[in-house]
Amino acid sequence: MLKVGEKLYEGKAKILYATEDPNLVVQYFKDDATAFNAQKRGTILGKGAVNNQISARLFQWLEQAGIPTHFVQQLSEREMLVKRLQIIPLEVTMRNITAGGMSRMLGIDEGLVLEPPVFEWHYKSDALGDPLINDDHILALALATAQELETIRRLSSKVNDTLKTYFAARRIDLVDFKLEFGRHPADSSRLGAGRQGQLLLGDEISPDTCRFWEQGTKKKLDKDRFRRDLGDVEAAYQEMLKRVVG
Ligand code: TMP
Repeated sequence: MLKVGEKLYEGKAKILYATEDPNLVVQYFKDDATAFNAQKRGTILGKGAVNNQISARLFQWLEQAGIPTHFVQQLSEREMLVKRLQIIPLEVTMRNITAGGMSRMLGIDEGLVLEPPVFEWHYKSDALGDPLINDDHILALALATAQELETIRRLSSKVNDTLKTYFAARRIDLVDFKLEFGRHPADSSRLGAGRQGQLLLGDEISPDTCRFWEQGTKKKLDKDRFRRDLGDVEAAYQEMLKRVVG
C-alpha cells in the first residue's frame, strides 16, 4: 500500500502530495472552481470525483493511442497516482470550433468549424491572464527547446484526433481543450547530456479543461456553465461522466 506524504503544491482545482517514491505523486481533485484567472470562485459539488474519473479514462485511452502521459493509476474516487513532472509553463490550446478566448480575441461568433484545427501556445501565468505567445517567445525565453516544441505540437494534434473520435462516438463535439506538458526526471539519466527528461502529457483532461457540446442540441456540458452562470453545472459534469465511463 502506497503511503501518501506531505502536500507538495495546492493549485486551484487540485492538490499534489508526495509519496514514498520520489518519482510518483498523488493528484487529488477538489470541487473548487475558478474562472477568469481566479477572479471568480465557487464550488461545483462532485466535480473532483468526476474530473478524476474522466481524466483517468482519457489518459488510459491516449496511452493506448501511443501518447505518453503522467498517468499511473486511479487510487480512489478523487485521487490519481501520476509520474512527477517539472511542468513546462505553457498552456497548449487546440480548437476545432470557435468559442471563448478565440471568439473574443478576433470578434467572431462561437460555433464556426475550424479546418484545420487551431493550435495556440499560452504562457502559463494567472497574473498575466495566460497571454498568447508564439514559438519565438518560447525559444528566446528558453521556456522549452525547439525539439520539445515540435514534440508537443505533434502530440497535441494526435490528442485532438484521438479525443475528437472518442467523443463523437458519445455524441459530443470536442470544441476545444487545453493541455499541459512536463518533463519526468526519472528517465533523464537515460537521455544523455543536455536533455531534461521525458516529455509527458500532464495535468488533467476534464470538463474544466475542455469545451464539450452535445451533438444536435449544442448544449454546453463543461465549465462554461459555471463561467457564464448558465445553471445545471453539476448535472452537466455528471452527464459527461456518464458519457465517458457509462
Ligand atoms: P479559452 O477559449 O478561454 O482560451 O479556453 C480554451 C480551452 O482551454 C477551453 O476548453 C477551456 C480551457 N482552459 C483551461 O483549461 N484553463 C484556463 O485557464 C483557460 C482560460 C481555458
